Amino acid sequence: AIEQTFSIIKPDAVERNLIGAINARLEAAGFVIVGMRLIQMTVEQAQNFYAEHDGKPFFDSLVEYMTSGPVVVQVLQAENAIAKYREILGATNPENAAAGTIRHDFAISMSKNSAHGSDSPASAEREIACFFGESKIFTR
Ligand code: CMP
Repeated sequence: AIEQTFSIIKPDAVERNLIGAINARLEAAGFVIVGMRLIQMTVEQAQNFYAEHDGKPFFDSLVEYMTSGPVVVQVLQAENAIAKYREILGATNPENAAAGTIRHDFAISMSKNSAHGSDSPASAEREIACFFGESKIFTR
């Protein structure tokens, strides 16, 4: 089915001018970018977005990192978008990411792993709603 997934191009990738390179890969893979903004998350937004990780040892540093500079928030549409994006992203830890994936090719570390993608339909729905009102998504 055609799905929408939520993507973040993280501060490490924005800082290294990789927005275009990542978007080129997304479009080449068949994703349509139907929502996109450059923002700097507030601590509150990041804590809410990553609420499932609250209490984990890396939570505070994750929030600090994700609010440290601008990020690109995106809604990506494609057939099977959620699983498809996870596949081209590669494993969370770039050391384990397959050759040719975004994280293998661009990420610096587990934290500075260049991009985020929703891990399930329920997450995608929740995550999109964190940053995009329906009128800001140009579904086609
Ligand atoms: P992301 O897909 O954005 O979801 C949660 C993020 O936490 C993850 O990518 C990593 O960048 C970050 N993170 C940092 N340390 C860990 C860890 N030990 N396990 C999982 N995620 C981690």
